[in-house]
Amino acid sequence: MNKRKFTLEENEIPENWYNIVADMPVKPLPPLHPGTLEPIGPEALAPLFPMELIKQEVTSEKWIPIPDEVRNIYSLWRPTPLYRAYGLEKKLDTPAKIYYKFEGVSPSGSHKPNTAVAQAYYNKQEGVKRITTETGAGQWGSALSFACQHFDIECDVYMVKVSYDNKPYRKVMMNTWGANVYSSPTNLTEAGRKILAQDPNSPGSLGIAISEAVEMAAQREDTKYALGSVLNHVLMHQTVIGQEAIIQMEKAGDLPDIVIAPFGGGSNFAGLAFPFLRLNFEEGKNIRCIASEPASCPKLTRGVFRYDFGDTVGMTPLLPMYTLGHNFVPAPIHAGGLRYHGAGVIVSQLLKDKLIEARSQNDQEIFEAGVLFAQSEGIIPAPEANHGIATAIAEAKKCKEEGTSKTILFNLCGHGNFDMKAYQDYFEGNIVKSELTQKEINDSLAELTTPEIN
Ligand SMILES: Cc1ncc(COP(=O)(O)O)c(C=O)c1O
Repeated sequence: MNKRKFTLEENEIPENWYNIVADMPVKPLPPLHPGTLEPIGPEALAPLFPMELIKQEVTSEKWIPIPDEVRNIYSLWRPTPLYRAYGLEKKLDTPAKIYYKFEGVSPSGSHKPNTAVAQAYYNKQEGVKRITTETGAGQWGSALSFACQHFDIECDVYMVKVSYDNKPYRKVMMNTWGANVYSSPTNLTEAGRKILAQDPNSPGSLGIAISEAVEMAAQREDTKYALGSVLNHVLMHQTVIGQEAIIQMEKAGDLPDIVIAPFGGGSNFAGLAFPFLRLNFEEGKNIRCIASEPASCPKLTRGVFRYDFGDTVGMTPLLPMYTLGHNFVPAPIHAGGLRYHGAGVIVSQLLKDKLIEARSQNDQEIFEAGVLFAQSEGIIPAPEANHGIATAIAEAKKCKEEGTSKTILFNLCGHGNFDMKAYQDYFEGNIVKSELTQKEINDSLAELTTPEIN
């Protein structure tokens, strides 16, 4: 019998997070104060984040020790399994070898608890009583609810309206872990009221929900804010994924030629890809890393690299990133976790320097890929994860056409057991066919008054 599953022992959970900034040939540009346009110091972030996370945000240390208590909670589901996708290879009749790392075994069903637990831990250490956050697909909100419950911290989640309506059981899951969940935009915040005044039927977006959560956190001493992606420390916490995968691929006697992951703000992509990019930097390997994003929210493939706000209303510092403009409201696609106008600063710099690649697919293509995967490998993927699968399938088909055998590894970053409405819409032919025109992108970018980067 061919070995299908590569597992590790609990004592093989990584002991450090990997900070790719230490190895980047061109370091990321600093965030700017939106008023003065001067680089901001760590103290500007203090109202929103605990000091230890701010230190991690700006550190250039290569390895950051993972506290024992965090590793202990990780051991509930880590190390996660790595599979050889024999079923999918056979279905595609491809000479490529396909592997996937499965993060859907976590309590909330995705990679998000890898950072949620770390963030809740540092907030608890610094006496924080309440954390506010946004969630798109509901995966991040669930993960933070689970983590806050563990550390007895109150958790308020602003859930993007379209997901709130489409995924009622994600809300119940968050409630089960004791969190309060609000459909964003709400009437509870200035930011929400402003959006509702412009469009009472706004489907919401991650950018809007971030504005609401940040506003609420800034109002109370005992409350901080947590972000599920984009920021440097969040990306770094996810690197446990790739570090485990390197050992598992060694056990499989392979090294990937191509590493693929879906892309919302960059965290699961960073989690899998950054440890492999370290092998490129340190050992001269040539592993291609590809980020997969929705065609209806294509910041990496059709956006511009410039300073922009991380949220819609303009409350965050200006970040140097690939963006479609902070006013951009993506079509209400089912991959709700990928409906974000911008990209993490580190990932943006790596793309600018051509050290990583990006691809986009539409919803029709990604559900075809997800159903093919479910039928050949069994697991039903989250719609976000289907983006990675679609890119992996495209690369495997290319191998067949060219008669080459490449080794492909992708991140199956979450299961789709709460996403049956999305699959139902696909089977009933009700997938939103969003053809984003260049004019729509240009119009959104034309509204930007933030600094350009030469
Ligand atoms: C299952 C899943 N995959 C991917 C993402 C995308 O986020 P990121 O790029 O930060 O990993 C999300 C975000 O909510 C998600 O829920």
